[in-house]
Amino acid sequence: MSLEPIPIKTQNDILIARQHGRELASQLGFRLADQTRLATAISELTRNVIKYAGEGICLIQNASSRNQLKIIVVVEDWGSGIPNLEQAMRDGFSSGSGLGAGLPGTRRLMQEFNVESEPGHTRITIALIRPLLA
Ligand SMILES: Nc1ncnc2c1ncn2[C@@H]1O[C@H](COP(=O)(O)OP(=O)(O)OP(=O)(O)O)[C@@H](O)[C@H]1O
Ligand SMILES: [Mg+2]
Repeated sequence: MSLEPIPIKTQNDILIARQHGRELASQLGFRLADQTRLATAISELTRNVIKYAGEGICLIQNASSRNQLKIIVVVEDWGSGIPNLEQAMRDGFSSGSGLGAGLPGTRRLMQEFNVESEPGHTRITIALIRPLLA
């Protein structure tokens, strides 16, 4: 199953994306704490899209298999890109007035975290994964 990309343009789109993630996690059987982890990660990444790129998209898909529950989220924009990725991933770094907790915090919440960023394009791919016991 794969959902259509959710356009991220307004604060309300953040809530929509967040809720989609939470609902999919709930349907698949992720526990409440994991549903919240995913919702938080989606909020942080989509908030960055609006703050630093103006707009973008969010794709949420079920990638579960027999052995594991897995949700992949791709958040993508065509803004200026992240100037210094190493710096951006550091706790407390913000080019604006933020806490600089969004990216490093999101990485800690997820089992997979990958950033591709260049001037004109940023794509962050995350995954929440839980093994299923046989
Ligand atoms: N989509 C993006 N496009 C361009 N730059 C980005 C993007 N996302 C993050 N950044 C850069 O990475 C930095 C760190 O992002 P992070 O989310 O960790 O912190 P923040 O947004 O500044 O603060 P917080 O999320 O705690 O409110 C940002 O300050 C910004 O410079
Ligand atoms: Mg942020």
